[in-house]
Amino acid sequence: MPKILVTGALGQIGTELCAALRLIHGQEQVIASDIRILNDTPFAIRPYVQLDVLDKIALHALILKEKITEVYHLAATLSATGEKHPLKAWELNMQGLFNVLDIAKTDKLKIFWPSSIAVFGPTGNKAFSQQHSVTAPTTAYGISKVAGELWCKYYHEQYGVDVRSIRYPGLISHTAPPGGGTTDYAVDIFHQALKHRHYTCFLKPHTTLPMMYMPDAIRATLQLMSAPADKVKIRIGYNVHALSFSPEQLAQEIGKHLPSLKIYYKPDDRQVIADSWPTSVDDHHARQDWHWQHEFELDTMVADMLKNLKQLVQHI
Ligand SMILES: NC(=O)c1ccc[n+]([C@@H]2O[C@H](COP(=O)([O-])OP(=O)(O)OC[C@H]3O[C@@H](n4cnc5c(N)ncnc54)[C@H](O)[C@@H]3O)[C@@H](O)[C@H]2O)c1
Repeated sequence: MPKILVTGALGQIGTELCAALRLIHGQEQVIASDIRILNDTPFAIRPYVQLDVLDKIALHALILKEKITEVYHLAATLSATGEKHPLKAWELNMQGLFNVLDIAKTDKLKIFWPSSIAVFGPTGNKAFSQQHSVTAPTTAYGISKVAGELWCKYYHEQYGVDVRSIRYPGLISHTAPPGGGTTDYAVDIFHQALKHRHYTCFLKPHTTLPMMYMPDAIRATLQLMSAPADKVKIRIGYNVHALSFSPEQLAQEIGKHLPSLKIYYKPDDRQVIADSWPTSVDDHHARQDWHWQHEFELDTMVADMLKNLKQLVQHI
């Protein structure tokens, strides 16, 4: 039975990943950790340890104390925040990963580390970006993800570390808020649509980007981590594809449920980041190697998001 540590566990992905891992392995087998101090930790989050991944000594001590065998290393700075603080993003995204990889090397840990479609840049294929297409990003975040992927591959090839990675697209969820990415609009729009029936989008109407509903992202993660090692043929981030849509298409789909929804557009700095990313990715390697298949399409994702959020939002 694995003993799991999740870093950055209070974020958008970690919240749902911890819950999914605990369903499979049991509550006590999954230690959630994050830099944030929780004075009154809710039961669903326990066991929880406050941990800064940049503190390698504390990270290693926790891994030894809890006899950790697998780390899902999620702590990072995301794309939009990364552009505001590029060197801080580089430090957290790279040094945090080095700390985890280095301990994995000595302690023989299995690692999941998320990459992103941000590895691609404006010079690659816009549509259907291939697994081994040009990765020349123009954002600090993207640069950290390309470098991180190469270091994961290096630690696998040189030291035998079983490290696995996915290039997530923009993720949409109804539990935790998004953490400063370029695709955050695709979550915010649901909340504003339900509360106020209008939304001002920070991207232009036709900005098509690869996206995925969180249940699919969690399933992809668990599927990749449970695949036999010889089936994991790629040790940089796997492309995984589910949806491609623009703000206008998303608003239209939400409008089928909330016909009075009005959407306005006020593009900001994040438009430049979005314009540098592909509109879709080719994920046939993931489909072949570990049988990845998405379940949610745009219509089923929107219906499910609204169903879940309506229970939370009052005055609708
Ligand atoms: N959410 C997406 O759409 C998306 C898409 C592609 C890739 N990813 C990647 O997935 C991972 C998790 O993303 P997310 O959306 O959950 O991010 P998030 O911003 O929601 O969560 C990150 C968490 O890391 C924590 N953290 C920050 N600094 C830390 C430190 N020094 N030590 C420990 N914890 C720290 C934060 O408190 C936060 O809870 C990141 O590597 C991100 O690049 C996310």
